[in-house]
Amino acid sequence: MDKILVTGGLGFIGSHTVVELQSNGYDVVVIDDLSNSSIETLDRITSISGIKPQFQQFDLKDKTKVSEFFKANTNIKGVIHFAASKAVGESMDNPLMYYENNINTLVYVLQELKKLNHSNFIFSSSCTVYGQADELPITENAPVKMAESPYGNTKQIGEEIISDECRVNSKLNAIALRYFNPIGAHETAIIGELPIGVPQNLVPFITQTAIGLRDQLSVFGDDYPTSDGTCVRDYIHVVDLAKAHVIALERLLKNKNKSNYETFNLGTGKGSSVLEVIQSFEAVTGLKLNYKVADRRAGDIIAAYADTSKANNELGWKAKFTLDDAMKSAWKWEQNIRKNS
Ligand code: UD1
Repeated sequence: MDKILVTGGLGFIGSHTVVELQSNGYDVVVIDDLSNSSIETLDRITSISGIKPQFQQFDLKDKTKVSEFFKANTNIKGVIHFAASKAVGESMDNPLMYYENNINTLVYVLQELKKLNHSNFIFSSSCTVYGQADELPITENAPVKMAESPYGNTKQIGEEIISDECRVNSKLNAIALRYFNPIGAHETAIIGELPIGVPQNLVPFITQTAIGLRDQLSVFGDDYPTSDGTCVRDYIHVVDLAKAHVIALERLLKNKNKSNYETFNLGTGKGSSVLEVIQSFEAVTGLKLNYKVADRRAGDIIAAYADTSKANNELGWKAKFTLDDAMKSAWKWEQNIRKNS
């Protein structure tokens, strides 16, 4: 059983990835500082997979701890690095915190990998690196546009750091996965997204409105140049995303990668407008959502959806779940977490 380190393994995408790794026979070690996740998620993962992952709670900004971890765990075959801060607004208010949290930690992990004879590394990147792309669907060759926020910038800089390091360190094999909009939850509704405070993202805001935690959803703008005037995104089920991490890791473990630094888009290839997401939610739940059209949100791009050919052809991965599936699972999860509160 290959041992895989998952940093940020108790977060939204991390926890789903840990479950998929375990169901594919990997021995998982999680490092998480619990800054935006809950220790309960460890038991929740265990109740799905039947296996408790090894867990260490510490902040990857603690360089000494990172070093000690790798000294004590010489048999790590791959690292999936999710640990990062991800709130766009917060990053605008506190850019240095974002650069320290997302960049320093990445550098410390890569410094440890540099000491190894061979290492495999998967990085959580984002479609945010493309900004408003000139052409849709977006291929991996689309130019990286100037970041709209320090958060987005940490993803761009993160990719550059890894690519620079891969150029000089041929023993490092890395893949950056550029996620489009991850939504949904595990089919068991035992793990899912746990936003702290008022959700900034569309789907948790929809489910929290439907369950009565929020009065009304604001649709940010209906005068965009799209089919119904609302913004278009590529919403990808988190379980599809998690499976893609296992496949990307296997590509590296089996030396199937074509160069030691690769990037892949992870999306469905289908764009959905905000109103289509609401319609999907209403259709699968039979509920009527309270929403109103509001002003545009600053910084929003008009439309983004992935060209998924590279991931389909090279990784042999394709998203299986539909928007309806994802909305159904998000709603089941929302109901499950509110049941006891
Ligand atoms: C946001 C981040 C992006 C990050 C991604 C992770 C911004 C500007 N971008 O992307 O960097 O990688 O989350 O999931 O924050 N919407 C509403 N009402 C709401 C919330 C959202 O109408 O209450 C609309 C937005 O205008 C947008 C769409 O829903 O058109 C999706 O929004 P959101 O879930 O926040 O994702 P992004 O903005 O695409």
